Amino acid sequence: MTATTSDIEKAADVLRSGGLVALPTETVYGLGANAEDPAAVGRIFRAKGRPPTHPLIVHLAAAEQLDDWVEDVPATARLLAEHFWPGPLTLVLRRGRRVPLEATGGLETVAVRVPDHPVALALLEAFGGGVTAPSANRFGSVSPTTADHVRAELGDAVDFVLDGGPCEVGVESTIVDATGGTAAILRPGGVTREDLEAVLGRPPAVPSASPVRVPGQHPSHYAPRARVVLVEPEKVAAEAELAQELGHRVGVLLPPSPAGTTVGAHAVVPLPDSPAAYARGLYGYLRRLDEQGCDLIIASLPAEEGLGLAIANRLRRAAGPRPAAQ
Ligand code: TXA
Ligand code: MG
Repeated sequence: MTATTSDIEKAADVLRSGGLVALPTETVYGLGANAEDPAAVGRIFRAKGRPPTHPLIVHLAAAEQLDDWVEDVPATARLLAEHFWPGPLTLVLRRGRRVPLEATGGLETVAVRVPDHPVALALLEAFGGGVTAPSANRFGSVSPTTADHVRAELGDAVDFVLDGGPCEVGVESTIVDATGGTAAILRPGGVTREDLEAVLGRPPAVPSASPVRVPGQHPSHYAPRARVVLVEPEKVAAEAELAQELGHRVGVLLPPSPAGTTVGAHAVVPLPDSPAAYARGLYGYLRRLDEQGCDLIIASLPAEEGLGLAIANRLRRAAGPRPAAQ
């Protein structure tokens, strides 16, 4: 059920009184709080089980508000904001005074974006201020792309859930470091490298090995419960059958291949041809395979162009080494 006007008003009141609201965006669902209320921001970290040093994104209703939240806006950042907002692009800029250090994990920079979702925009307009919102999942796990995912994962830790239907994009926003007048991709996402290049007139920088300073950069992130193993596309079927014989409950993300390919596995998700449809479905597929009781997921990386870059990034992290406790 999509949120009504009175739901939006109620959600804005919850934000005003220091509560947490799950809100739909075009990328994934976010867990929102009043960005200017350090206590409310602190509740986000506790609800997610996220270390307090990991910075959040401040969501705004319109690009015109950018200057209220950041200290200085280089021409490149202005160009990207004008071109891609509302949309799945997050800009990292110098922190403005309105943004408490609790929201930036102590950094002097802040991540901001204007989401492209009618329910999120209606909430941001009704509320009037900035809403800090990480993805509405427990730290390290798969981001939610439906309101049901949020309820299943966070339950009572969230005061109000706004339902805006399934997310259109399905993977998180592209994060661009726009401090210092250049544009460097910190996390690939819904706006592609090619889209950025077309607007910038030059390729954006892609930092090679960035140190782990933000959660999206952890080796294991966006991970389902089942272990994820990546193999070459043409080996998916054979590896799945082998693992099945070894006693695993195998889930397969099966790349589009000649008609009639069958795979002996516990659960098979036939992947769509279009990268946009794959991105939209990705987190739902991983959740479904977990729900079906798989202990091992076999997948392969798509071509790393367009949205394929973000999909490959999430799959690599899903397959990354897990902390011992997980
Ligand atoms: O699509 C999205 O970006 C979603 C929706 C809800 O907007 N949000 C999201 O938030 O993915 P989260 O917290 O799961 O990821 C935000 C990432 C952090 O992991 C961190 O890597 C980066 O943003 N980030 C935030 N502030 C930063 C900063 N000042 N410098 C560098 N990276 C920052
Ligand atoms: Mg996240």
